[in-house]
Amino acid sequence: MTIKTVMVIGAGQMGSGIAQVCAQAGYNVFLHDMNEAAIEKGLANIEKLLTRAVEKERITHDEKENTLSKLTKSTQLQDAKTCDLVIEAVVENMDVKTKVFQQLDEITPKHAILASNTSSLPITEIAAVTDRPDQVIGMHFMNPVPVMKLVEIIRGLQTSDETYEAIESMTNNINKTPVEVNDFPGFVSNRILMPMINEAIYTVYEGVASPEDVDTVMKLGMNHPMGPLTLADFIGLDTCLYIMEVLYEGFGDSKYRPCPLLRKYVKAGWLGKKSGRGFYEYN
Ligand code: CAA
Ligand code: NAD
Repeated sequence: MTIKTVMVIGAGQMGSGIAQVCAQAGYNVFLHDMNEAAIEKGLANIEKLLTRAVEKERITHDEKENTLSKLTKSTQLQDAKTCDLVIEAVVENMDVKTKVFQQLDEITPKHAILASNTSSLPITEIAAVTDRPDQVIGMHFMNPVPVMKLVEIIRGLQTSDETYEAIESMTNNINKTPVEVNDFPGFVSNRILMPMINEAIYTVYEGVASPEDVDTVMKLGMNHPMGPLTLADFIGLDTCLYIMEVLYEGFGDSKYRPCPLLRKYVKAGWLGKKSGRGFYEYN
């Protein structure tokens, strides 16, 4: 199948990045959010990143304008009726995601593929609320989307080969590297990354070291580009907690128990960079 028009749902840090890379590759993109201010913020961020790319002579002024012209603000989910692909990037919550997928199943054309950028939730369960489980797939981008090369592609139990191939090909078109994984809690990326972040939080919780020192150990000792607590703040502490809960419930193993300090911060509204405070403070 040919994908020409894409809707990205959720204009947060992931959705705006996904919309940007799709538009840069020439797809027509609707950027949809239930919160209009989030769309404005997402589009303003895309424009800022494109302006910077022009200044650095990575793209031309015309390429920037062309990308911006491919992006359309959408406040009505009904805009999905002309889309060949929808990539959902709303909050990491099964109830919210399944409601969105039920609506999309009604609105989108029969041929459309419905993808989720979920970090950890089962694709098979999301697919089961639609009448087209063979056309539902996980398309897990990494943050920050314009920079990171990976897209983990998750096959639900009923995802068809045709759907997989269309998404694999689209991933190559947007200049990312696809990796195929099966539907298991946390897939590959977050099954490995998130327990490390959770363990870093435990080391702070147990008074082993300060957040700064934990991050320095991992940056200078292991050559990680960001320390795990800086990365947790960057991802969003709410998202980290949701992922740990999915791992804990999905595997039933105490090694995935979310650190109480993570829970406490999320309850306090300390969600990391996006809320201005997490393990660090941001202006
Ligand atoms: N959005 C877009 N571009 C960004 C960006 C952002 N938020 N942050 C940095 N960049 C760009 C910068 O503009 C810069 O590009 P230019 O060369 O054009 O200037 C480039 O990235 C490098 O940035 P910096 O020199 O400022 O900083 P850096 O060298 O430290 O790199 C980084 C920044 C790429 C984010 C790097 O710190 C890094 O790789 N961090 C780890 C990121 C990571 O692990 N991501 C995965 C998170 S887990 C996930 O996504 C899955 C999940 O489900 C939770
Ligand atoms: P975010 O909080 O930055 O953005 C979420 C956006 O979704 C918000 O703008 C919100 O208004 C919107 N939204 C919520 N419910 C909606 C609905 N029903 N309809 C339309 N819009 C709705 O979150 P994010 O960090 O961009 O994460 C989004 C998804 O991407 C999550 O599933 C997350 O697990 C996944 N993800 C996150 C990262 C990361 O590093 N943050 C990496 C990979 C995947």
